[in-house]
Amino acid sequence: MAVLPVLTWGDPHLKINSADVGQWTPELEQLVADMFETTLDEEGLGLAAPQVGVNLNLAVIDCSCGEDPAQQIILINPEITREEGVQYGTEGCLSIPGIREELERPQKVWIRNRTKEGAWVELEGEDLLARAFCHEIDHLRGRLFVEYFGPVKRSVLQRKYQKQLKG
Ligand code: NI
Repeated sequence: MAVLPVLTWGDPHLKINSADVGQWTPELEQLVADMFETTLDEEGLGLAAPQVGVNLNLAVIDCSCGEDPAQQIILINPEITREEGVQYGTEGCLSIPGIREELERPQKVWIRNRTKEGAWVELEGEDLLARAFCHEIDHLRGRLFVEYFGPVKRSVLQRKYQKQLKG
């Protein structure tokens, strides 16, 4: 397993709609293992393939931060089918290090997700997991969490982000 370089805010890979995963291959298996390793190394909760330069509808989530293998989730061509309620919490992204902001998300979401074998399953996420589903699926649509804010706040965040990159 290898820790992969994570692309950051402004990179074109983070701005486009990714393509669906086709047949599962050993290369994808390796990519997913590396993505889990990278998530752990960066102390994140999840990582989407576009963040490592692969524009496929593929992401990994581990809300246990490496503590519990049963909590490792692989998202393949995921789609949100239903949302319920509202939660408020602080969100961050490995592609925008140092920036954490309060963001409203649904309390509970249901997604349609593909398995490696090609079957479709429904997954349900609440609280932190619901937030992770939304965040990672946004990445697959070319959307970063800071894009939920208006232009004024976004440019403040951008300046803050660039300033700390230099510092
Ligand atoms: Ni992110």
